Amino acid sequence: MINKPLDRPLARAGSCSWLIRWSLSGGSITLSLLLGGCANAPSALAPRGPAAAEIANLSWIMFGLAAAVFVVVMGLLLYGLFRSRREGVEQEVSPGRDRAFVVWGGIVIPIIILIALYIFTIRTMAALAAPTNAAELVIEVVGHQFWWEVHYPNQAFTTANEIHIPVGRPVELRLTSTDVIHSFWVPELHGKMDLLPNRINSFWLQADEAGVYYGECAEFCGIQHAKMAFVVVAEPEEQFAAWLAQQAQPAAEPADPVVQQGRQIFLGSACVYCHTVRGTNATGTLGPDLTHLASRRTLAAGIIENNPGNLGGWIVDPHSIKPGNKMPPTNLSGPELQALLAYLASLD
Ligand code: CUA
Repeated sequence: MINKPLDRPLARAGSCSWLIRWSLSGGSITLSLLLGGCANAPSALAPRGPAAAEIANLSWIMFGLAAAVFVVVMGLLLYGLFRSRREGVEQEVSPGRDRAFVVWGGIVIPIIILIALYIFTIRTMAALAAPTNAAELVIEVVGHQFWWEVHYPNQAFTTANEIHIPVGRPVELRLTSTDVIHSFWVPELHGKMDLLPNRINSFWLQADEAGVYYGECAEFCGIQHAKMAFVVVAEPEEQFAAWLAQQAQPAAEPADPVVQQGRQIFLGSACVYCHTVRGTNATGTLGPDLTHLASRRTLAAGIIENNPGNLGGWIVDPHSIKPGNKMPPTNLSGPELQALLAYLASLD
């Protein structure tokens, strides 16, 4: 089966564990049903980085205040209903007390609550504006319909749909777009930031734990918006340095005859007009850089697992996997496709 979708592929499990525990202990059937959608979904309420933690805290403060207001208003409503029934419709009229109730309940207390929320929001915005430690590493991300181009300008290489960062320190992201507006979102690490054509939006990311974090486009950008995903891989320092060094290398020279034949097929086909493989004559920039394609976890922007079956299916008929994407189908014989796959598998 070739185009098995990677549904929230590499995200952490257990993001909803608190909700599951609460649901089980409270025996809430409705909530248990709702939880069907929670399995393995990355949650902004299960933060793994300082920015996401700030946002989650603000969400809980807002939820807590809203819940308190709801409980008080419902309590007053029920009190009013039952008191009227018990005592009949005849009520003692006290204009002074009623006016004070309206002034306090309808004006003073709401203003205090709104000001408190405003202060919490401004504090969160200030905390999100810049990381505590200056970000040394810069990563440029360019949105395309429907994939992510990723540059490491200081290391002078380009990759796609997979962003590696060192764990425990912030990295600066510079976001832009070549076509329409996209939005960069890794729920466990930060809030959303738009990628706009002709503008660079700065942003930062930090993961407190090593792991693979699921990200996606959060702004409707066309027919395959829902299939514009990516992963952020947070790695310990040495592992990250090794990844940087490896990605900066050009593609290896193939020694195996089948791989050599695959490279000839690749370089002699239309692939080179859209894709780059550093160290060869393929220098196209319309599609993802393939220099280290085999090192990536996913294909088609986080949608399918990177394995030979999926890659073969993607090359032969990309529109059955992502209708409306810009990769054209390729007409190759079986042996040609196998040789091409062998070449692409060598790009690690
Ligand atoms: Cu890109 Cu939605």
